Amino acid sequence: MKNILITGGAGFIGSHVVRLFVTKYPDYHIVNLDKLTYAGNLANLADIERAENYTFVKADICDFDTILDLLRRYEIDGIIHLAAESHVDRSIKDPFTFARTNVMGTLSLLQAARLYWESLPERYEGKRFYHISTDEVYGALELTRLEGGDEPGGGPFGDDFFVETTKYNPHSPYSASKASSDHFVRAFHDTYGMPTIVTNCSNNYGPYQFPEKLIPLFINNIRHRKPLPVYGKGENVRDWLYVEDHARAIDIIFHRGGVAETYNIGGFNEWKNIDLIKVIIKTVDRLLGNEEGASLDLITYVTDRAGHDLRYAIDSTKLKTELGWEPSLQFEEGIERTVRWYLDNQSWLDNITSGDYEKYYDEMYKQR
Ligand code: NAD
Ligand code: TYD
Repeated sequence: MKNILITGGAGFIGSHVVRLFVTKYPDYHIVNLDKLTYAGNLANLADIERAENYTFVKADICDFDTILDLLRRYEIDGIIHLAAESHVDRSIKDPFTFARTNVMGTLSLLQAARLYWESLPERYEGKRFYHISTDEVYGALELTRLEGGDEPGGGPFGDDFFVETTKYNPHSPYSASKASSDHFVRAFHDTYGMPTIVTNCSNNYGPYQFPEKLIPLFINNIRHRKPLPVYGKGENVRDWLYVEDHARAIDIIFHRGGVAETYNIGGFNEWKNIDLIKVIIKTVDRLLGNEEGASLDLITYVTDRAGHDLRYAIDSTKLKTELGWEPSLQFEEGIERTVRWYLDNQSWLDNITSGDYEKYYDEMYKQR
């Protein structure tokens, strides 16, 4: 497999996947297709943008003709599809955008891949359509253990976990749109024989995450001594995975995963939001040289998110048993690395809050 299309490569997870593939596989040509919505930031890829095996294309996955043309022009053998609208709070305010990109966009990509690959003599031989999805499609788990065990983060907070056969039960417009796209991907395998793979991953954290999501938002707010808005009582549980571990899993699954298979990806690392927030505060205060607990007073309990899922927890045993993947990083180390990265790259955060990051494409690409 030589020519790989990665969609959404200018976003948080996509930029880590693009970097990994461009540096690890010099023989592959990596085409990064991204619309550069508010969440796309080419500065995330500044270190590899001049690599010979890398091409960036600004395009919308909903634009069927452009996608088909691109697949033909670059003779794409494999697709790793990450482009999506990804923030639950935005989906509550504007569900249409989520249906458009996540559902219709995925369908347009699938249909373009089908037409292109079916036109080749080898058809689907050596081809792969890998769709990146979320654990949120499974709905919410009960919180039956109020105190956790000896696991990292104090979890698990219940006896049940999401497994690959858990029934879909999405609650937010975001997770409903992702669930719908997952169904389309599987339908293209079942109907046309397209070699597809779907993975469902837990919450990611790490460098280059847009500062509307919990961890970078709170690091940025602590830096500016702004309130930290905790939804509800802060008792919701999320299962956190370092983004580079997710990218490593994607690499393994893309190359060795079984056709039509689903794999759950997660770190067995459950945290109640409020406990996680206290770890973030402690780490940021220490690294900024503040007195311990100096920023605890910024915690501000606010109205809960509508339909707020109580607990997510992934069982990734299948991935470990079948393909040997495990998370490499302890959470404490991951959080330390993450906080350090945001504090060492404050201009990256400031460029986003000022809106300057949106000029990057014009400056770096349009004039070429
Ligand atoms: P992100 O919001 O940081 O990035 C999304 C990228 O997609 C951006 O670069 C954006 O410009 C691009 N994009 C959006 N609409 C597009 C369109 N119509 N055409 C082309 N490009 C478009 O998202 P992320 O957190 O990196 O998530 C990437 C994928 O992983 C998503 O599919 C998401 O559902 C999934 N996922 C995310 C998490 C997480 O914790 N962030 C966990 C599990 C799965
Ligand atoms: P988020 O990072 O938006 O990811 P997701 O909703 O996909 O899990 O939120 C993580 C958790 O943090 C979630 O339970 C909602 C909560 N949260 C807050 O309490 N305050 C905030 O400002 C944000 C953005 C999230």
